[in-house]
Amino acid sequence: MSSTAAPLPWLLEDIDFSIAQPQRVREDEALFFLLATSALVETATHHYAANLAEQYADDAELGDWLRHQWAPEELQHGRALRRYVATVWPQFDWERAWTGFFVEYSAACSKDELEANAALEMAARCVVETGTSTLYRTVLDYTDEPLLREIARRLRDDEVRHYSYFYAAARRYHAQQRPSRWALLRAVARRVLEAFDDDGEIAFRHAWAGRHPGRAYASADYKRFQRELRARITPHTPVAMSARMLLKPLALPAWLGRPVTAALVFGLRRAAGARA
Ligand SMILES: [Fe+2]
Ligand SMILES: [Fe+2]
Repeated sequence: MSSTAAPLPWLLEDIDFSIAQPQRVREDEALFFLLATSALVETATHHYAANLAEQYADDAELGDWLRHQWAPEELQHGRALRRYVATVWPQFDWERAWTGFFVEYSAACSKDELEANAALEMAARCVVETGTSTLYRTVLDYTDEPLLREIARRLRDDEVRHYSYFYAAARRYHAQQRPSRWALLRAVARRVLEAFDDDGEIAFRHAWAGRHPGRAYASADYKRFQRELRARITPHTPVAMSARMLLKPLALPAWLGRPVTAALVFGLRRAAGARA
């Protein structure tokens, strides 16, 4: 089937990797692991994308967008991050990390099921895109390294666009399928909770194997990474933006939306150790 989708908004070749200033970030272990694990997860997108595109094969526009825009853009995020990591930390053994990671991650992901209907799945996708938009905006705010800022800006813009597309699709399916607010809340909460499950540790463990091939991994290494993240990087989380994006698919009435947003901003700020 020929695609009616637009060409990708940018290509990896558009990025000038010669502007890198590796000395600004080379000693930042937490940043290395954040970027290397993100590269692994973005590169694994095709595993999930195939399921999703198949599920929505009868929605020609959505299926076409998933196959020809969304999945190639996510894979390009993986390539951009991978190349960045190789530029700054050339000793990192990507093949070793990727091979081990994908075996374990794809087995863990095959347990995941798509939501019961399209309205719920599209709302759940909004949560995932909120997470990635938040991640790249956090990196953009955190770093002063020019190449990483350029990459983070492009990735953040893509993720916000993905969110908007999934949100519009969620509204469309919502009008047809009329899921209860309770079902929507469950779908959203499930994805939020997934962000705290084992995937992060799986990616970290394999990134560790690629970074320190001779050193055995211990769970204390992951705990230290999480402490460093929270001390230096997650305080840059754009909590107000993230809270708004998370709650939007629930379409709460204003009287409820305001206090729930305030509570979520408070909770996210505590979780991220954010200052503002
Ligand atoms: Fe992405
Ligand atoms: Fe995305």
